[in-house]
Amino acid sequence: EKLPVTVYKNESEASREVALQIANIIREKQSENKMAVLGLATGATPVEVYANLVRMHREEGLSFQNVITFNLDEYYPMQPDARQSYVYFMDENLFNHIDIKRENIHIPDGTLKKEEIPDFCLDYENKISTVGGLDLQILGIGRTGHIGFNEPGSAPNSGTRLVTLDDLTRRDAARDFGGKENVPVKAITMGVGTIFKARKIILMAWSKKKAPIIKKTVEGEISGKVPATYLQLSENVNFVLDKDAASEL
Ligand code: GLP
Repeated sequence: EKLPVTVYKNESEASREVALQIANIIREKQSENKMAVLGLATGATPVEVYANLVRMHREEGLSFQNVITFNLDEYYPMQPDARQSYVYFMDENLFNHIDIKRENIHIPDGTLKKEEIPDFCLDYENKISTVGGLDLQILGIGRTGHIGFNEPGSAPNSGTRLVTLDDLTRRDAARDFGGKENVPVKAITMGVGTIFKARKIILMAWSKKKAPIIKKTVEGEISGKVPATYLQLSENVNFVLDKDAASEL
């Protein structure tokens, strides 16, 4: 069976299309006087999507007053005001430029004491359920095949939890931290199971660098060795790729 894969000429076109889909969900919910619940991702991949949403806010008056967000993950430990934090990333790329209410933003807390993490994670799951579940989860993909920070070995029904980062993931993050030794060893991430509960999932990937892992994800055997392959089991997933990321399919 063929998975829904949409290939665009380049990252810009693909990002515009994903931003439009997000805006459509927000507007549809507005017309029903409901909240739109969005699962958001960090990394280089969604940057242009967020830029498009900011542009639509400025130019078209797209409002985020009815939007609740849950980010996938955060490094642990991590101070929110650190340049490498996902709190900082989301503020810079999206939240500071739109009219979202601060109380509607949720990002895993990198400042918790270790013993506080299990309760925090359960509460994160409960908060998502309480607002009716995720209408949409957007995803990038790491070269290990991680979604969020669900590294190889993650279970398909895993929930929000503290995880250990793969060595390759820490090497890929080394530039942001000025050396691999400065990259946190752990992170708090939504689980594969959390992601799966979203009513719609969009996994995005750009560039040749992602082509091998995209091939494995879309065509490879479903296995915890490449957690993104679990997405083959979802009926709600769409892979949005540029030509280069799709070049090995
Ligand atoms: C990061 C994030 C993931 C992201 C991935 C790819 O470490 N935790 O959510 O999808 O790695 O990053 P990039 O988009 O920069 O290639």
